[in-house]
Amino acid sequence: MSIATARPGPATRTALVTGAGRGIGRAIAQRLSGQGLRVALTARTGEQLEQTAAACPGPTLVVPADLTDPSGVETVFGAVEQEWGAIEVLVANAGAGVSAPLAKTTDEQWRQMLDLNLTAPFRCLRRAVPSMVEHGYGRIVVVASVAAKVGEPYISAYTAAKHGVLGLVRSAAAELARSGVTVNALCPGYVDTPMTDGTVAGISDLTGRSAEEARAVLERKQPIGRLVGPDEVADAAWLCVTTGAITGQGINIDGGAHQS
Ligand SMILES: NC(=O)c1ccc[n+]([C@@H]2O[C@H](COP(=O)([O-])OP(=O)(O)OC[C@H]3O[C@@H](n4cnc5c(N)ncnc54)[C@H](OP(=O)(O)O)[C@@H]3O)[C@@H](O)[C@H]2O)c1
Repeated sequence: MSIATARPGPATRTALVTGAGRGIGRAIAQRLSGQGLRVALTARTGEQLEQTAAACPGPTLVVPADLTDPSGVETVFGAVEQEWGAIEVLVANAGAGVSAPLAKTTDEQWRQMLDLNLTAPFRCLRRAVPSMVEHGYGRIVVVASVAAKVGEPYISAYTAAKHGVLGLVRSAAAELARSGVTVNALCPGYVDTPMTDGTVAGISDLTGRSAEEARAVLERKQPIGRLVGPDEVADAAWLCVTTGAITGQGINIDGGAHQS
């Protein structure tokens, strides 16, 4: 029996979910909590984190922070370790997108996209890995996007950051394969969250379509003919937590839109 499988099951473990205030992060936090993990929650907006905590059945720890601040990751990990000890399950989910034609993408937008969607997950992994390796067990799940695998117009900075974070996941998984630590990315299509509400509003503004028509455009992009539910992304996150044999993957959760 390996060191990893000899340890207690996931029900006793400590998790950190970034971007846990709403949308996908909230759904994953609820799922992990429902499965018995104690779950630390971080994002900038404390009020939303408290709402997530109230929706979780088990122990939670609310640690508001801006993860694009170079000290933000250290603040969060330090607070969790002080309260509960080492983080064993890391879900790096916090993220956001901006839309602009390539030629109009500003340096500031480019920097924001890389800071939040690539550098913040890198800092989280770098901080989480040593204690996971030391204990012979860890689960890291990065919420990337189908934009980690394919290019779509008007989201070049977001797409570059998400492609980058999938590269980070693949390299980390290769490096850690024998350590009991798995590293995977989730690659959702359009998910029914506040972020997608923003995308719908943007399409409406740009095209004059109603919100319903704009939403239908996104629904039609996915062969299942609807948006993905946040709970369905949480299903995939839980799969990555429960198995030690899936690592280095970018798991598409996009209703069949992409088959690689
Ligand atoms: N929705 C989709 O269709 C979709 C598709 C593919 C991939 N994704 C990815 O899935 C992840 C979650 O998306 P979502 O749809 O759930 O988005 P959302 O509803 O906008 O939630 C994003 C979460 O990230 C947090 N966050 C944003 N900036 C932050 C910062 N600087 N520091 C710390 N936390 C920050 C937000 O809280 P605060 O604003 O309070 O900080 C919020 O809790 C993102 O990485 C996104 O790229 C989403």
